[in-house]
Amino acid sequence: MSAIPLPASGASAAGPRHVAIIMDGNGRWAKRRHLPRIAGHRKGVEAVKKVARAARDLGIDYLTLYAFSSENWRRPPDEVRDLMGLLRRFIQSDIEEFIREGVRLAIVGDYRALAPDLVAMIDDAMARTAANPGPTVVIALNYGAQAEIADAARRLAEQASAGTLDPATIDETLFERTLASGKLPPVDLLIRTSGEQRLSNFLLWQAAYAELLFVDALWPDFDGDALAAALGAFAQRQRRFGGL
Ligand code: IPE
Ligand code: IPE
Ligand code: MG
Repeated sequence: MSAIPLPASGASAAGPRHVAIIMDGNGRWAKRRHLPRIAGHRKGVEAVKKVARAARDLGIDYLTLYAFSSENWRRPPDEVRDLMGLLRRFIQSDIEEFIREGVRLAIVGDYRALAPDLVAMIDDAMARTAANPGPTVVIALNYGAQAEIADAARRLAEQASAGTLDPATIDETLFERTLASGKLPPVDLLIRTSGEQRLSNFLLWQAAYAELLFVDALWPDFDGDALAAALGAFAQRQRRFGGL
């Protein structure tokens, strides 16, 4: 018997509570236009703003956006610098809109390894939006699901070896609570843009029963209508959670 209570099976007409998006295809969007990759990333930030607004209007409680993976450090230093610059600008200039619109900002991933000024900006933005009613926009920054899972295992092992935790009590519920993102509800709908069909180390635990939707649109072309269409596709899915 699973320790985690799963929802009853059935049609998903209620709409997804937690939507997670792998925002892929910025580079290809730029390449098609003979533009530098940064132009695609810049346009990608515009899409983030549109989609965050639409998520609120569509009644989504949690929107998690994969912005920078722990593997993206493998990109050329110039591109990493450009991405960090865009993030800095996004936090500086768009947080006021988040505050105005009642959006709560949260982060998953090891963002504390980023530049100190960026860390301070992010902490400030999270504090200033903490009391907002929501929705919660979660940005995955320097995020890798395998590292997140290994961290939780290490923390539990430390408690067990210190004698403060009985290993026999470790089950899915405790493990999930120990994950850095443990407060997030399970992912109901996981969308990846750009036609790629892989998870790229994103929310592996949380997406255990997510409905997966792979769309061909490149991320800079994704917008509120595309999100609404994704919710339409989700509504057609029959979720079973192992039952009938
Ligand atoms: C997604 O677009 C943005 C990040 C990974 C930061 P890409 O930069 O991966 O775009 P493609 O896949 O090269 O087209
Ligand atoms: C996944 O996209 C990470 C983000 C969207 C931030 P990538 O473009 O890095 O994924 P791979 O390398 O094609 O799997
Ligand atoms: Mg990509």
